[in-house]
Amino acid sequence: MMQPTASIKDRPALAMITDAEKKNLISPGKTTLIEPTSGNMGISMAFMAAMKGYKMVLTMPSYIHFETTGPEIWEDTLGKVDIFVMGIGSGGTVSGVGQYLKSMNPNVKIYGVEPAESNILNGGKPGPHHITGNGVGFKPDILDMDVMEKVLEVSSEDAVNMARELALKEGLMVGISSGANTVAALRLARMPENKGKLIVTVHPSFGERYLSSVLFQELRKEAENMQPVPVD
Ligand SMILES: Cc1ncc(COP(=O)(O)O)c(C=O)c1O
Repeated sequence: MMQPTASIKDRPALAMITDAEKKNLISPGKTTLIEPTSGNMGISMAFMAAMKGYKMVLTMPSYIHFETTGPEIWEDTLGKVDIFVMGIGSGGTVSGVGQYLKSMNPNVKIYGVEPAESNILNGGKPGPHHITGNGVGFKPDILDMDVMEKVLEVSSEDAVNMARELALKEGLMVGISSGANTVAALRLARMPENKGKLIVTVHPSFGERYLSSVLFQELRKEAENMQPVPVD
């Protein structure tokens, strides 16, 4: 939530633009940037483009987590991370972080997460689900299947319930994919073979952008049904 647009995608957005500027490939006022996404990556790209003065057309997943998020996890855990688990949208995060962590310690285990209702990476069919940012319905080209031990399946219902629980019990107002990641991380933590292991996951986005989604549906209904209370 401390990122400028409250999602994990500010980092790749800034890094991509800065990299292209350093290589003299783009410059503000001249170049129009094009990005094939309408999700959090799009929000971050639009923010960075506006900040730097570029025109932007939103329509590319990135692989930038090898340079930023991977090293951050390695340093923050003093190299003691045993398992990393992350939901797959473009697959950029799990691939970049996974490759970095395995380059530092080949024994680190990497798990992907996909919606149970759209479990195409496990041989299932694409389908509607509520885990925003995950489960695009096909295998993205940049997703490194070999870096992962396995892709875990989490249902939309479990992801939504966990996101609510994180807000109520932990004070973490995060999005639905954060719920999915936490469900998968806890599932791994409960396995006897993982006793004592250091498991890391990410909460990719802050919860405010899900106010109109299924995540806050019950609260919205409660608010709608509130009646004025007469004051004597
Ligand atoms: C909220 C949220 N969760 C998870 C992801 C998945 O990250 P990646 O695209 O790196 O696989 C995204 C990607 O946009 C996202 O916006």
